[in-house]
Amino acid sequence: MSDITTLSGLLDLVRARIGAGLVDRDAAARLPVLATRDAQGWPSARTMVLRGFDAADWTLDLHSDADAAKVLQLTDGPRAALHVWDAEASLQVRMRAHVVRLPHEEEKTLWEEVPEEARARYGTVPPPGTPIASAEAWHPNPRPARFAVLRARVLRIEALHLGDIHRRARYEREEGWQGSWLVP
Ligand SMILES: Cc1cc2nc3c(=O)[nH]c(=O)nc-3n(C[C@H](O)[C@H](O)[C@H](O)COP(=O)(O)O)c2cc1C
Repeated sequence: MSDITTLSGLLDLVRARIGAGLVDRDAAARLPVLATRDAQGWPSARTMVLRGFDAADWTLDLHSDADAAKVLQLTDGPRAALHVWDAEASLQVRMRAHVVRLPHEEEKTLWEEVPEEARARYGTVPPPGTPIASAEAWHPNPRPARFAVLRARVLRIEALHLGDIHRRARYEREEGWQGSWLVP
């Protein structure tokens, strides 16, 4: 059990719950929400599957069709937010991150690990978000060139723990994640 009454303990809880998202299908952090901005500046949020987590370096990996709007938006500017509401832990996690694609060679290597049946997600004709005449007027055409691995380098974490007292803290990469308390 993490000691959520201390800054480091609360951060440990965040780390543990995100880590759980990688190994436990029922953990909330398996499905974080990624928010970007579209070309008009509108926020755009969507659910994604957590595919990787480096707990020491605070990076999260997500997979997408390379032609999806989110990838194009992040190519324009890497600023994004990630959000998890973990009801089991009474914990909201809000993160600020720089999200960039991995080099193509690394994406190609990771593509080999994507199970055959999962590959259909990466490469539709026409591309995701294209208006179509009927719901089924598209087909999958999976290929490695359409497999994007997004690596989110977390810059800021805000944790809100709901309990007998609500506790809110902010942690910054630039400050070595030492953290500070905020009014919830
Ligand atoms: C439970 C769930 C999991 C999803 N996982 C992913 C994912 O891992 N990667 C992905 O690109 N889209 C995923 N999606 C679809 C996205 O939410 C989104 O609809 C799609 O990627 C298109 O978003 P975009 O046009 O903003 O790029 C998931 C949707 C749901 C409901």
